[in-house]
Amino acid sequence: MVRVLLVGSGGREHAMADALARADGCELYSFMSARNPGIMRLSEEWAVGDICDAVSVAKWAQTRKVEVAVIGPDAAFEKGVVDELEKNEVLVCGPSRAAARIEWDKSFARELMRKNKIAGCPKFLATGDAREAADFIDELGGAVAIKPAGLTGGKGVKVTGKQLRDGEEAKRYAAEVISANIGKLGSVVVEEKLEGEEFTLQAFVDGRGLAGMPLVQDHKLALEGDKGANTGGMGSYSDANHLLPFLSERERDEALDIMRSTVSALAKAGAPYRGILYGQFMATARGVKVIEFNSRFGDPEAMNVLPLLEGDFAGIAAGIGEGRLARGEMRFAQKASVCKYLVPEGYPEKPLKGEPIEVNEDAIGRNGGCRIFYASVDEREGKLLMLGSRTVALVGQGDNIEEAERRTERACSHVTGKLFHRRDIGTAELIKKRIAHMDALRRKDGG
Ligand code: AMP
Ligand code: GLY
Repeated sequence: MVRVLLVGSGGREHAMADALARADGCELYSFMSARNPGIMRLSEEWAVGDICDAVSVAKWAQTRKVEVAVIGPDAAFEKGVVDELEKNEVLVCGPSRAAARIEWDKSFARELMRKNKIAGCPKFLATGDAREAADFIDELGGAVAIKPAGLTGGKGVKVTGKQLRDGEEAKRYAAEVISANIGKLGSVVVEEKLEGEEFTLQAFVDGRGLAGMPLVQDHKLALEGDKGANTGGMGSYSDANHLLPFLSERERDEALDIMRSTVSALAKAGAPYRGILYGQFMATARGVKVIEFNSRFGDPEAMNVLPLLEGDFAGIAAGIGEGRLARGEMRFAQKASVCKYLVPEGYPEKPLKGEPIEVNEDAIGRNGGCRIFYASVDEREGKLLMLGSRTVALVGQGDNIEEAERRTERACSHVTGKLFHRRDIGTAELIKKRIAHMDALRRKDGG
């Protein structure tokens, strides 16, 4: 019997809870910021509180005598929840505040890559001086990404040609990041704009070594055809061979090498990384580049990979906490997966809140074993109410992406309420576009 603490209450954490609950002899204790009905059902006990209040989380864990902890949201790492739990001798699958700096300080991440000559780093400048930022934007011909160095809940990055019209607007935004202290670290990172297809590589890391998970592609924009506002991610897919249709094994290995070098660099810097490392990459015509690192599972990406995990997640998490990966355990089923988030009408700008939804769980389960993960939803007197963010995720599996997509889409029809989702995620049509985009870039660069 092992007593495991889970921190967080989104769809990602429901998938983590589900993977833990599959492990033999795992008793789950969940500390959440809202009453996630899926996590509540899987837990021996649960509490609702401030997941960033390290002392409260650690105290609650102590009274429940937890031995192992897994943590979902990035903000908890920055606030030192892991450090506090480790003081109480809990084995934590999650980086210390110092190691998680790879996510919460983008200037640190880029300087670490530069200093250690790690491949895949775009040209960049991290500065607290608007004049210097403007000069660098000119040097890059105005084609840039502007990033507050600190955490902004995924909403701080702006790119020319997307959220920024041109170099002049990029300069104004860089100056605003500094003067309004967006991200709260007093600095901005200016980067060369990369062109390509994005993908996610998540890995189990034990301080020295790592084991990669199947690759995933997320879809950040709210509307079909990659239109509309940026979101936390509307849905994602993975393929049965654990690669992606536009990406080769060689490129996956490049990304793995970059992650390995980064883990070594953190150890060398005195901040060994233990936990889940998430690499957001861009496949470009000139090789694989790093967009950013996160110190946790992705949301939605966790929901693609965790249901495929054949090993014992509680055992893996305990092993990582001890600084030792249980290598035999890191097997994933050779299945494709498609995850789609149902979100409130008006999301992300003016989402509806407090409206009821109905979920026919039996019909979803009968549909080739589709999974349902609850996110921003509350259960009150047997009724489900949406709280205003990504509400419910559905995940289908199949022998190929098309089959998984069909199952997911059918499952979506068993959820009713004032919600919408992106029907195009995982469809053959959208995937063909991704492949054509990559081919065109490769031809342009080669020719
Ligand atoms: P981040 O918060 O760093 O993941 O950035 C959010 C989004 O901005 C990414 O998913 C990319 O689509 C885009 N982005 C970030 N950095 C760059 C870059 N150097 N070039 C082009 N797009 C970028
Ligand atoms: N899906 C993007 C993230 O979790 O950061």
